[in-house]
Amino acid sequence: MTAAPPLLIRRATLPDGRCDIDLLALDGHLAAVGPALPAPPGAQEIDAQGWLVSPPFVDAHFHLDAALSFGLPRVNASGTLLEGIRLWGELKPLLTEEAIAERALTYCDWAVARGLRAIRSHVDVCDERLLAVRALLEVKRRVAPYLELQLVAFPQDGLLRTPLALTQLRRALDLGVDVVGGIPHHERTYAQGGESVRLLCELAAERGLPLDLHCDETDDPQSRHVETLAFHAQRLGLQGRATGSHLTSMHSMDNDYAARLIALMADSGVQVVANPLINITLQGRRDSYPRRRGMTRVPELLAAGVNVAFGHDCVLDPWYALGSADMLEVASMGLHVAQMTSQAAQRQCYDAVTVNAARLLGLPGYGLEPGCRADLVLLQARSPEEAIRLRAQRLLVVRGGTVISRMAPATAELCLPGRGGDRPFGVDFTRQPPAEPGGGPR
Ligand code: FE2
Repeated sequence: MTAAPPLLIRRATLPDGRCDIDLLALDGHLAAVGPALPAPPGAQEIDAQGWLVSPPFVDAHFHLDAALSFGLPRVNASGTLLEGIRLWGELKPLLTEEAIAERALTYCDWAVARGLRAIRSHVDVCDERLLAVRALLEVKRRVAPYLELQLVAFPQDGLLRTPLALTQLRRALDLGVDVVGGIPHHERTYAQGGESVRLLCELAAERGLPLDLHCDETDDPQSRHVETLAFHAQRLGLQGRATGSHLTSMHSMDNDYAARLIALMADSGVQVVANPLINITLQGRRDSYPRRRGMTRVPELLAAGVNVAFGHDCVLDPWYALGSADMLEVASMGLHVAQMTSQAAQRQCYDAVTVNAARLLGLPGYGLEPGCRADLVLLQARSPEEAIRLRAQRLLVVRGGTVISRMAPATAELCLPGRGGDRPFGVDFTRQPPAEPGGGPR
């Protein structure tokens, strides 16, 4: 295979606000980032026209085995988590390895076009045939040149309430699945949930693997398995590689207990994934009014120094009838649900689908500094906040210094009879810089 020619992107805006910056990609890595870089011989030059160059999006929590299966074999009528789990159980005997792989590959195409570099996907191991595991391991191998999949061995029906689930989970790890998963709130009792957390933490420690548990995905404030997770993560030295996903019960906890818990989580190095689109949809279903939002305490966790990422979780599956691999939609929902509306908080929501998620997955060479991998996205926006507001078009997706996806800009042309000649006819929805100090659009 011949090496890709150098790629020189000119006149970009970076997430830190620097403008008119050039980025030079050589041999798959960023060789230089700065103003007015000299072009090496044979370089392909692209004018970014001031649009935002961002490190790629990362989805910290997804279910590729169920993605795009909406309507099979029927639709989730109640819209609840538990009916979704039952529905997935009805679908499992009907699945084929080929169908799972085909849907997953389609979703991976969506993800690449949306500028994702990596997805952590849970994969159900409760099927004795391990069909989904085999299908997704093959998909992981096929997409590896352009998309990094991290697979989590996930006992969807419960580790202790399902016969052979622990054996199945070990088999999945033996086959090459990367991360230990679990679902303590779905065990029969609180005690069994806690026991499953202990077993899974010890398994992760024994195998030297990361751990990522669906944890306390309920509105029950007594569901406190994350406390057990933090305890065992600290006891077993899993700091930085243990993750609690969802943690929605924290929304409903007593504030004093939550404050103590968050301090424990920060101390133990547990990381967190919130899934705003799914949490706002599935939680609070037994409430009348007021109806709880159900997302975990994102601003408070961040303030305590806990690494928080956002995940998409579901797209067109038994739990969620929407979605299109758009991590900016995820960031937007997280921003709204947590009321993270200040400029600084909006930036934190952007980080939750980029740098924080990359850190949680342990992605090497992530970022826009010289020496990082030349993986980036050119967005039709001038800042991360504007990218969230517009769910900006991914004009270019670059992987290892090669353009792997292009998207047309979002524009409109007005056709207004009698419109005055002093007004433009083109519309692009971006915020124009203020015309004078203190002026400009509000
Ligand atoms: Fe999930």
